[in-house]
Amino acid sequence: MTTTLPLNSGAHIPQIGFGTSQAADAARSVAEAVRAGYRHIDTAQMYGNETGVGEGVRASGVPREEVFVTTKLNNGHHDPTDVHRTFQESLDRLGFDYVDLFLIHWPLPFLNTDYVDTWKAMLQVQETGRARSVGVSNFQPEHLERIIAATGVVPAVNQIEVHPYFANNELREFSKARGIMVEAWSPLGKGTELSDPVIAELAAKHGHAPAQVILRWHLQRGDVVIPKSDNPERIRSNLDLSGFELTEQDMAALDALDKGEEGRRSPHPNEFGK
Ligand SMILES: NC(=O)c1ccc[n+]([C@@H]2O[C@H](COP(=O)([O-])OP(=O)(O)OC[C@H]3O[C@@H](n4cnc5c(N)ncnc54)[C@H](OP(=O)(O)O)[C@@H]3O)[C@@H](O)[C@H]2O)c1
Repeated sequence: MTTTLPLNSGAHIPQIGFGTSQAADAARSVAEAVRAGYRHIDTAQMYGNETGVGEGVRASGVPREEVFVTTKLNNGHHDPTDVHRTFQESLDRLGFDYVDLFLIHWPLPFLNTDYVDTWKAMLQVQETGRARSVGVSNFQPEHLERIIAATGVVPAVNQIEVHPYFANNELREFSKARGIMVEAWSPLGKGTELSDPVIAELAAKHGHAPAQVILRWHLQRGDVVIPKSDNPERIRSNLDLSGFELTEQDMAALDALDKGEEGRRSPHPNEFGK
C-alpha cells in the first residue's frame, strides 16, 4: 500500500498515482495499474479517456471508494456554466457519482473568462459533494494569489511540471508554503531523462531502474507523482519504490541536474493554450 498524504480539504491522497494519456488504452492500463496496487488515477477531460478510466477501475475488482480519481476541466470549459455542465459529463463518462479531485487544467490568463470566476464555479461543484477536493494545475504564484485573495479558499493541489531537469522549486515552495499539495506531472521528464549519466550511476549504485531513482527523488522531496506507462512491467516497477533510499548526496546530485526554464517540456503556463 502506498503512503497517503493529507490535503488541506481533509482528504488523503496516495503519494504515487498513475498517469494516463490520450494515446493509451486506458481501460486496460488502468485495470492493470489498480491490480498492481495503485490507488490513485489521474485523468482529464482533455485526454478523452475518462470512459476507459472508469471501465478500468471497475474491471480491476477494487471497490471505487478505495481508488482516488482525479479529473481536470478542459481549456474550452472555463465559463462557469460550462464548469457545471462538463463536470457532470465527466462523471457520466467515468460512470462515477463523485471524483476525489477536480482541477482547473491550465490557468489561461489571456481568456475573457477570468480564472477567478472559473475557480468560484469549482468551489460550487465541491459544495455539491461530487468533487471531494478541488484544486488547480499549472497555476503560477500570481494566479494562486488571485484565487485565494478572491475566495479565501486555498486549492488542495497544484499539479505542475516537475522532473530532474526542471525542478520548478520556486513554484513548489510557493505552493507548499500556502498548504497546497504539489503533484509532479511528467515526473520522468516524459522518459527522456532516464539515460542521464548521473541517474544511470545512481541506478547502478542502488540496483534499481533509472525511473525508480527519479521517482524516489520526487517522493523524498515530498511531492505526489503520477508516472504514466502502458507497459505492465514498468507499471509495476514505478510503484515499487520502498526498497531503497537516496542519501543526501544522491539527492544533491539529482538536484544539480536542474536546468531551470531550459528544462521545461511544455510551454510556460502563461503561454499554454494561446
Ligand atoms: N496537468 C498537466 O498539465 C499535465 C501535463 C502532462 C502530463 N500530465 C499527467 O502526468 C502524467 C505523466 O506525465 P507524462 O506521461 O507526460 O510523462 P512521464 O510519466 O514523465 O513519462 C512517461 C513516459 O516514460 C515512459 N516510462 C514510464 N515508466 C518507465 C520506466 N519505468 N522505464 C522506462 N520508461 C518509462 C513511458 O513509456 P511506456 O508507456 O512505454 O512505459 C512514457 O513514454 C500523464 O499521464 C498525465 O496524467 C498532466
